[in-house]
Amino acid sequence: MKNIQGVYKVAGLTRVNDIYYRLALEAPELARLVKPGQFIHIKVSAGLEPLFRRPFSVYRAVGGKVEIFFEPVGKGSRLLAGCKKGDLLDVLGPLGRPFSLPSRDVRQVVFIAGGVGVAPFMLFSDQIVKHKAAKVLLYGGRSKAHTFPLNEFKKNAVKAFVATDDGSAGVPGRVSELFGRIDIAPTTFIYACGPRPMLAAVAAFAREKGLKGEASMEEVMACGLGACLGCSIPTSQGYQTVCHDGPVFDLQDLVFP
Ligand SMILES: Cc1cc2nc3c(=O)[nH]c(=O)nc-3n(C[C@H](O)[C@H](O)[C@H](O)COP(=O)(O)OP(=O)(O)OC[C@H]3O[C@@H](n4cnc5c(N)ncnc54)[C@H](O)[C@@H]3O)c2cc1C
Ligand code: FES
Repeated sequence: MKNIQGVYKVAGLTRVNDIYYRLALEAPELARLVKPGQFIHIKVSAGLEPLFRRPFSVYRAVGGKVEIFFEPVGKGSRLLAGCKKGDLLDVLGPLGRPFSLPSRDVRQVVFIAGGVGVAPFMLFSDQIVKHKAAKVLLYGGRSKAHTFPLNEFKKNAVKAFVATDDGSAGVPGRVSELFGRIDIAPTTFIYACGPRPMLAAVAAFAREKGLKGEASMEEVMACGLGACLGCSIPTSQGYQTVCHDGPVFDLQDLVFP
């Protein structure tokens, strides 16, 4: 799979709400190459601190720009949130195994996302807008403030259902409260991305109902290229790296110790 290292200009930084940001890079080649579920590995500062790049899913790739959607949680992502238009960022990507596109016989595409796990599904829904399947997004957040504005998904004919831990938006509880929206049929395909306990619940549900699907895993990364083995996770195929063998894995291959 082709990936490139480049230094790209920040085309803009937008504050989506109190929690989330969007950052766009002028990166025509990346925008052309990237597939849904792949990530870019960003050197967030020119100095040695933080030393390692930080991985972010590609949220959108239009007009020669690549966008990420992120929550500042630590030093690296806070530095990104302080970027200005015209700043330069050193980026490696696109990296990792993407989601597979739904085959023609799929009748329901189900995106299941927790928090920033929604990021790869924007690009994905952009790319399958012409697919005839019904598309639903089951979205779980901590509170209303963590609920990403879902209008852009509506434009791609994705019907969104929301659950929040504190009940301040949508159905109270975990995203699993929304599993009733899933057609239990061989023509349904699940794509999931979010915190590990959520993915464990999705994998257990899929196994119980005999549904097919894929999930994107998160792990702290160093090289991002499959060389240091620092992001290895157990799977039914043995230990595999999230950065190179993943981040997307078949749901049935995931092992949750
Ligand atoms: C394939 C992939 C795609 C990702 N896509 C997105 C995205 O689209 N938007 C987004 O906001 N975040 C995304 N992340 C998570 C993002 O990489 C981390 O939030 C970021 O690296 C944290 O760096 P930091 O320096 O800000 O925080 P640090 O100071 O390094 O850590 C702060 C906290 O975040 C945790 N953390 C650090 N790295 C990760 C990680 N890789 N996964 C989970 N927790 C982590 C740490 O354990 C700690 O609790 C993705 C991660 C992976 C592996
Ligand atoms: S981060 Fe080095 S192998 Fe994945």
